[in-house]
Amino acid sequence: SIPTFKLNTGHSIPAIGMGCWMGQPGAGLDQEILSSLAEALRAGYRHIDTANMYQNEREVGQVIRESGIPREEIFLTTKLNPKMYHDVVGGFEGSLRDLGLDYVDLYLLHWPQGIRASDERPYGDKEGDIGPTFNQIWAEMEKLLETHKGKVRAIGVSNYMPRNLNKLLKTAKVVPAVNQIENHPYLPEEELVELCREHGIHVTAYSPLGQGNSPFFSDADIKAIAEAHKTTVASVVLSWLVKRGISAVPKSANKDRMRQNLSLVELSDAEVERILDISRNDPQRHTHLLPGIVKDGKIGGWTLDQLGW
Ligand code: A2P
Repeated sequence: SIPTFKLNTGHSIPAIGMGCWMGQPGAGLDQEILSSLAEALRAGYRHIDTANMYQNEREVGQVIRESGIPREEIFLTTKLNPKMYHDVVGGFEGSLRDLGLDYVDLYLLHWPQGIRASDERPYGDKEGDIGPTFNQIWAEMEKLLETHKGKVRAIGVSNYMPRNLNKLLKTAKVVPAVNQIENHPYLPEEELVELCREHGIHVTAYSPLGQGNSPFFSDADIKAIAEAHKTTVASVVLSWLVKRGISAVPKSANKDRMRQNLSLVELSDAEVERILDISRNDPQRHTHLLPGIVKDGKIGGWTLDQLGW
C-alpha cells in the first residue's frame, strides 16, 4: 500500500499522487486525462493533483465521480488561478462547480504572484502593486476555511521560495499545510525543504521525474542505486523524495509506468545522501530549472519576476 504523510491539519496525504498537468491546454491533451486518470485510479492512485490553470477540472471531477471510489478515499488538490487572485471566493467556487464535487482536500495558491487578466501584469509581492499582496490573498484563503467549512479541508501554497514563504509567515494566521514545488535529484531545494520542515509545512514535489526527459535518467549514481535495488531510476527518484518526507505527483499516461511509480523501494540514509551529493558536489552536472521549462528567461511565458522569484 502507498505510504501517507500527516499534514498540520491532521489529514493524511498519500505519498504518491497523479499529476494532471497534461501540457498546453487546448491541444486536446485535457481529454487525455479522462482515460489516464481513470486508469490511475484503477491502478491504486488515491491522490490527484490538478489546478484551475490546467483547464481540466471538469474532466478530473467527472473521472472521480464515475470511478465508484468513495470520495473520502481520494485526496484531491486543486489550485487558485493567479488570474483570480482578486476574487478568491469566486475562484474557489468556480473550481468546486467545475469539479462537481462536495469538497477539495487541499486548495493552493498556484504561484506567489497574481496576474491581472487584462494585461498579464503581475502583482502580489509589494505594497502598492496593482492588486493585493500575497499576504492579503492568503488572508482570503484563511477565510475560506470558515466561510466554506467542509468544502475546503486544507489550504496551502505552491512555488513559494524561502523569500516568499518567510514573508507570508509574517502575517499568516494559518500556516500553509503544503508548499508544492518542483523537486527532483537535480533540484533538491535543501534549504527550502528544511524551512518547510521547521514550520510544519509538508512539501509536495511536482515534475518529480524532471518531466520524463531529464538527464538524471542516465545519471551514474542514480542508475547504480536503481541496479542495487533491481528497480528503475523513476522508482529510485520517487523513493528518494518520499524518504525525505516529500510526497510526489508524477504524471504518466502509460499504465505500466503508472504502476511502476507506485512501487517504492526503501533507500538507506547513505543512498539518500548520495543522491543529494550530486547537486552539492557538482553544480555542473545538474540543471537548476529544467531547460525545457525556462525559455528566454521565462517560464510558460512569464518572467521570473512575474512569478515572484
Ligand atoms: P508517460 O506518460 O509516457 O509515462 P513529470 O511527472 O516529472 O512531469 O514527468 C512526466 C513524464 O515522465 C511523462 O512524459 C511520462 O511519460 C514520463 N514518465 C512517467 N513515469 C515514468 C517512468 N516510470 N519512467 C520513465 N518516464 C516516466
